[in-house]
Amino acid sequence: MQLLDGKRLAKEIKAEIKAEVDQLLRQGRRAPALAVIMVGDNPASATYVRNKMRSCEQVGFRSVDIHLPEDTAQDELLRVVDELNSDPEIDGFIVQLPLPVHLDEQLIIEHIRPEKDVDGFHPMNLGRTLLGLPAFNPATPKGIVEMLRRYQIDTEGKHVVIAGRSNIVGKPLAAMLVQKASGANATVTVCHSRTKDLANITLQADILVAAIGKPEFITVDMVKPGAVVVDVGINSVPDASRKSGYRLVGDVDFESVSKKASWISPVPGGVGQMTVVALLENTLLAYKKQIYK
Ligand code: GUN
Repeated sequence: MQLLDGKRLAKEIKAEIKAEVDQLLRQGRRAPALAVIMVGDNPASATYVRNKMRSCEQVGFRSVDIHLPEDTAQDELLRVVDELNSDPEIDGFIVQLPLPVHLDEQLIIEHIRPEKDVDGFHPMNLGRTLLGLPAFNPATPKGIVEMLRRYQIDTEGKHVVIAGRSNIVGKPLAAMLVQKASGANATVTVCHSRTKDLANITLQADILVAAIGKPEFITVDMVKPGAVVVDVGINSVPDASRKSGYRLVGDVDFESVSKKASWISPVPGGVGQMTVVALLENTLLAYKKQIYK
């Protein structure tokens, strides 16, 4: 088994982005700027947002952290989105999900200008991703595709099985990998919680992507010998031996599956790291106006 080392790749790509930013600054231009809106105090979201902010700092981006109280009204949040939409000093911004239940997530996403939607969640960007047109691709699928490309894992003609049909991972990843394009051209199967005999399908995967959100759900009997296994899960499970009282595990039983797979991404240090880097890449694309001219 060889490791799909997201941590190492992320470091490498961040250095490339930093070099580009340094050059922009030398030319007298301003740094790319990303804003993150977070509503409430979901602890997992707070960790993700901190990571995104720190990554901005590492590559020389300006980052703006907008933390709103849990009881923020929908109109107020829409007003903040409007402000960022029209702020010429902000290249891209995201609204960290999940939002508190009294807020209409879809309505808010659709309020973001597609040109600044660096999460790629707006229907315009998801639609253009489906069509294979220039778009802000959602960060996690974009990070996975980049990880496979940098490890020279060919997807052409391969059977990619994606377990998970979310709007932010499973569906857009399927759209990207099935595209008639280099780095894609895969045969894609999407499975989900209602799939009958899931193991029978995952066993056929040349490349298996686990994005179901259930700790260590993919066990060794569900994986073909020599398969490439990409673990998207970030699950916190109780662990009395840790000072924090918990540890992070993926959707794959790493211990057993790693003995059967040719390549596998660890958790932490795998796809999560690539997701943050993909967000930085989208922000740079927004800054350079490379998606929407
Ligand atoms: N919550 C979980 N993943 C994501 C993400 O990629 N972007 C945002 N905005 N929220 C998330």
